[in-house]
Amino acid sequence: MTGCLQSWPEPVVRVQSLAESGIISIPKCYVKPLSQRPSASSSNNINNNNSSISKSSSSSHTSTPTTTSSEEEIDIPIISLEDLFSDEERVRERALSLLSEACKEWGFFQIVNHGVSHELMKNVKAMWREFFGLPLEVKQEYSNSPVTYEGYGSRLGVEKGAVLDWSDYFFLHFMPPALRNPDKWPSLPPSCRDLIMEYGNEVVRLCGKLMKFLSINLGLGEDYLQNAYGGDDIGACLRVNFYPKCPQPDLTLGLSSHSDPGGLTLLLPEENVAGLQVRRGDNWITVKPIPNAFIVNIGDQTQVLSNAIYKSVEHRVIVNSQKDRVSLAFFYNPKSDLLIQPAKELVTKDRPALYPAMTFDEYRLYIRTKGPCGKAQVESLKSPR
Ligand code: OGA
Ligand code: NI
Repeated sequence: MTGCLQSWPEPVVRVQSLAESGIISIPKCYVKPLSQRPSASSSNNINNNNSSISKSSSSSHTSTPTTTSSEEEIDIPIISLEDLFSDEERVRERALSLLSEACKEWGFFQIVNHGVSHELMKNVKAMWREFFGLPLEVKQEYSNSPVTYEGYGSRLGVEKGAVLDWSDYFFLHFMPPALRNPDKWPSLPPSCRDLIMEYGNEVVRLCGKLMKFLSINLGLGEDYLQNAYGGDDIGACLRVNFYPKCPQPDLTLGLSSHSDPGGLTLLLPEENVAGLQVRRGDNWITVKPIPNAFIVNIGDQTQVLSNAIYKSVEHRVIVNSQKDRVSLAFFYNPKSDLLIQPAKELVTKDRPALYPAMTFDEYRLYIRTKGPCGKAQVESLKSPR
């Protein structure tokens, strides 16, 4: 099954080099079909095989389904971690209920007062910016292959002739420590490896806290999710995205619509360049990052484990002609060889298990082969009833 994943099907082109070459029109392989372009009207830009999310969410906000995201006033919920830990029961309960709604209705929220040093967040972002600013030859030493994806890459998926996204990235394993290979991490800038370690540890800690609140809100013991994902042996990886300026941003996407395959994602975005769009019913909502917040989203494995009480929601990235953008997506995942299935406690006669048991290793082969495909994968798993 992994035979098809040995190498890229076409020569790799760095999008950053293309952008810096001064072209005024983008190569055809980045031009999206009309229905996927950023400005496609909402009625035709959702290739819908999705059910519950669009129905439940469109009733809970006031916009009309014909407006496009840029006209939307609403944004994803904001949750304060401090409030979740408050001594005051009222504050705690309110924060828990906001979080619950965010996980069920949005699949996305921003987390503030999260305890991760703002200085560290700033430094790690600046360091990765510096990495992408290094000469091409330096970055090429880390060129990745689809076997593990570790390293410097420019595409997701190995389908020949696929329409590509307008971005480059750096992907690395952080957990379990046995998979951590600092030799595959950049040696420049000099602070790189230490900063990845420091940042990774902080973010893993924060994810651990969030997992407890997610479990509690599902009516499970506070350690349920963490244990189901492998306890101390969870997996974690970092994908640093670089979205170069694009001369024709209306024709392409920085990252095509997808849901994240793993457990939970913590995204550190650029604060002053919009890019991330989250699907809400028939609309795309452009997220406005709050300074020093993380954007959190539910991954497919958490949708499976919660028997679809929590939703992993489609999202995508738009680009622009004015500013490039860096984002750090930290994926907190189940240990890759554990079977993940709906929690027994959440399976009832009225709500049978919606998904079969599967390991994360098996699951993520799909996105690694086909590239970003909206929610096609998790939806296709639904057991026939
Ligand atoms: C991702 C992702 C969003 C962004 O890397 O999976 O959704 O804003 N990134 O870069
Ligand atoms: Ni994503």
